[in-house]
Amino acid sequence: MNILIVGSGGRESAFAWKIAQSPQLNQLYIAPGNAGTGRYGKNIALKVTDFDGIADFALGHGIDMVLVGPEEPLVKGIHDYFLEREDLRHIPVIGPQRAGAQLEGSKDFAKQFMVRHGIPTAASQSFNQTTLEEGLAYLGTQKLPIVLKADGLAGGKGVLICTTLDEARTELKAMLADAKFGEASSTVVIEEFLSGIELSVFVLTDGDTYKVLPAAKDYKRIGEGDTGLNTGGMGSVSPVPFADNEFLDKVEERIIIPTIEGLKKDGIPYQGFIFLGLMNVGGEPYVIEYNVRMGDPETESVLPRIESDLLDLLQGVAQRNLQDRSFTLSPKTAATVMLVSGGYPGTYESGKTIDNIESVKNSIVFHAGTTTENGVVKTAGGRVIAVTALEDTLFDALQQATADAGRIYFEGKNFRRDIGFDLI
Ligand code: AMP
Ligand code: GLY
Repeated sequence: MNILIVGSGGRESAFAWKIAQSPQLNQLYIAPGNAGTGRYGKNIALKVTDFDGIADFALGHGIDMVLVGPEEPLVKGIHDYFLEREDLRHIPVIGPQRAGAQLEGSKDFAKQFMVRHGIPTAASQSFNQTTLEEGLAYLGTQKLPIVLKADGLAGGKGVLICTTLDEARTELKAMLADAKFGEASSTVVIEEFLSGIELSVFVLTDGDTYKVLPAAKDYKRIGEGDTGLNTGGMGSVSPVPFADNEFLDKVEERIIIPTIEGLKKDGIPYQGFIFLGLMNVGGEPYVIEYNVRMGDPETESVLPRIESDLLDLLQGVAQRNLQDRSFTLSPKTAATVMLVSGGYPGTYESGKTIDNIESVKNSIVFHAGTTTENGVVKTAGGRVIAVTALEDTLFDALQQATADAGRIYFEGKNFRRDIGFDLI
């Protein structure tokens, strides 16, 4: 098969690494990819939202499947675009159509979906510019802290946890009246704060049946001890020790099955990954958010644990016979540590030379924000490289990944040395 992966981050590097091992693979392409993905396939200089360009490339290169990594092209309708064009329709796209992608593209839509289908989530109410006064009044009736969420995609920055009523009122006004997050905050979901421990559960579905993929825990804060600003994710581990079978059974019964059945009842076709951002509140799972793709850096911990051929599962999605497919899992633990540019998640410099990647022998190096300039690998983003170790124990995996993260060098490099150690 000829496969085209859309995206350029650590997640897409992990997909490329995994798919490159498939005996069913003929040619692998990554659009646009990064300095690392070229090892597994051919990078194609196309933007993830250049649907015409992606389509032309797919037709010209006999692409048999398009795997979409990030949310933006899904929310913007890349899958619909392929279905709408007669010459493209035969090429399966892994990732939902626009209707399903709203689960991530609109937090208000996701909330209504969960309420409609009885899926446990924080109590909430949505407001827009015309109901700002009601929103301000509503805040006064709620417990603190309180969570304000921009409805639309805001690059992971659209969620504010407010600890005082003053702060919540100021932020609600900033979001609704002053477009703090642009169009994304023209509607705001005000949500009850859930206190617990977060984890991510991944599901692959062909729209009818599903497979539950390994769970992972992501570390979102920039600073050690979970301090400082939120990032895209500074590291991850899989499996998650506190997500035992009893908990995961609850997730399946109360969340996964109602989600798949809810999509069907609502007439929403869905072929792709569903990422459940969950809060474990005293042993009970609640949905914090849906994403319509795999997580980053969770993918870098999840895929190394899948021993069997990922393309087989993806074909099950494309051919709507996922129930006939199976996969095998490694009992080992994966730990991922992300190397980021100095200053990230604020402003940071790019173009720093990256050295010593080849000194990493016992971990997998997944490039994220990297590029090649005259044969030299340079930084080209906030999150630069994900280092993943797969070992028999969580402790060994964490030690290995953390040690290997220390081996790679670029000016301003930052990483967390405490990823996962809270779980031991
Ligand atoms: P999201 O962009 O929806 O993933 O939210 C970003 C982060 O905000 C999450 O990872 C949680 O840590 C936190 N968060 C979101 N919703 C809630 C909630 N209802 N209660 C507590 N924390 C939340
Ligand atoms: N690691 C969180 C995300 O991918 O959204």
